[in-house]
Amino acid sequence: MEKAGRIDPWSSEQSTDYARIVNQFGLSSVDIDSLPNPGMLHRRGIVFAHRDLDVVVDCMGSGDSFGVLTGLMPSGRMHLGHSMVIEQVRWFQEQGADVTVAVADLEALATRGTSLSEGRETALREYVLNYAALGLDPDDTNVYFQSSRPAVQRLAFTLGRRTNLSEFEAIYGFNGESNLAHVQAPMVQVGDIVHPQMEEYGGLRPIVVPVGVDQDPHLRLTRDIAQKTNWFNVKQRKAGGLTLALSIQDGNQSELGVNDSGKVDINSRTKVFTLLENEIRDIGFSDVNSNPKHGTMEIPGATIADRSRILMKMLSLERKMGGMGLLPPSSTYHRFAVGMTGDKMSSSKPESTIFMDDPIDVMERKVKRAISGGQPTVEEHRRHGGDVSKDVAFQYLQYFFEEDDGALEEIRKEYESGRLLAGEIKQTCIDSATEWLNNLKERRGQWEDRVNDFLAPDAL
Ligand code: TRP
Repeated sequence: MEKAGRIDPWSSEQSTDYARIVNQFGLSSVDIDSLPNPGMLHRRGIVFAHRDLDVVVDCMGSGDSFGVLTGLMPSGRMHLGHSMVIEQVRWFQEQGADVTVAVADLEALATRGTSLSEGRETALREYVLNYAALGLDPDDTNVYFQSSRPAVQRLAFTLGRRTNLSEFEAIYGFNGESNLAHVQAPMVQVGDIVHPQMEEYGGLRPIVVPVGVDQDPHLRLTRDIAQKTNWFNVKQRKAGGLTLALSIQDGNQSELGVNDSGKVDINSRTKVFTLLENEIRDIGFSDVNSNPKHGTMEIPGATIADRSRILMKMLSLERKMGGMGLLPPSSTYHRFAVGMTGDKMSSSKPESTIFMDDPIDVMERKVKRAISGGQPTVEEHRRHGGDVSKDVAFQYLQYFFEEDDGALEEIRKEYESGRLLAGEIKQTCIDSATEWLNNLKERRGQWEDRVNDFLAPDAL
């Protein structure tokens, strides 16, 4: 298991201490400059961390195919908090990703008692329609339901052999009283995340999963399970270079040259190594040190930068030999926008956020009441200026409504210098939000009768 730990992103000061989250979870910080065409979302620091994003970025550079997967809980109303993931999905799609959307109807049934038919209804009306309005491309988007995709459920079951109840107790806090449907839900999510790599769903390619950090336990579990199934491990070698090592497990012994009595069959092991050497030579490494008996191969000339290319080769070889060949998913983590009332955004607290279909006057009331970074009196404000880090209206402009970087910087400067008052920045936010919500509404209208364009055949 990668670094363990659970987090409630809202429970404490933890929620905004991103450096600590990165550290505690063993995430990587996002190096914005390394991204091609970072887009508004990334430029503004909305994505603060990732796992293996470089694998996906490499695909963008080389034109290799890659996918993005997201999941939605079909309950409640869609609000701005939910849109942060979709903005990322759209960005990845613009960079060439195919898009898979999991409707977590089984999870909603297990954890919230939402019936499958209710879940379907909510998913289509409330979420998929808004995803369409936010600009996802129907030609490259496949929405499916957990309950109607047997491949996902089959993976949930078969990959369940790679974990156990103790691990689930540690990760999710399950105990003897835990409802079994609830216990099964994380494995279904593992199935969601892994299945786009199956041949019938696009085949072996990197898959990136943009999430809030509360979902990271699922990503860690999935990555850990995928790694456990791999027949060939690619590791950094102490003396420099990389080492390939066979992972002998139930079900691959004869393929990897281990006989029925558990001993190495040197003839068939040597054949495995011939295959390996061919694959490795194929990508330009002819100088290797094979140790068939120990099941290892050193590649002194390879560097960590070659790791994912070599791993991809190994996974496709594993598939040819009968294994699953699963690449651990990549992931990105976005910051949480503050709730308008100062606590978390939540469907159950309508004043805390703006819903995708809030009427303009409702939005206006919420913004007017939102926490401000202004000074108590106009005089003090003119003297000290406003604090954008506390100002909800500014943050909503930054995260959602003001797409023009120059305009946003101008607003920041005006506010910090005290020229722009708290009431005025709220009005600016209201104006931008009005345009944004009206546009979205208009596009929802255009898609209303065509939501089916986004559905996979098994979701129709
Ligand atoms: N568990 C997620 C949530 O609570 C929903 C979900 C299900 C999901 N499957 C997924 C998210 C796969 C990302 C990827 O919102």
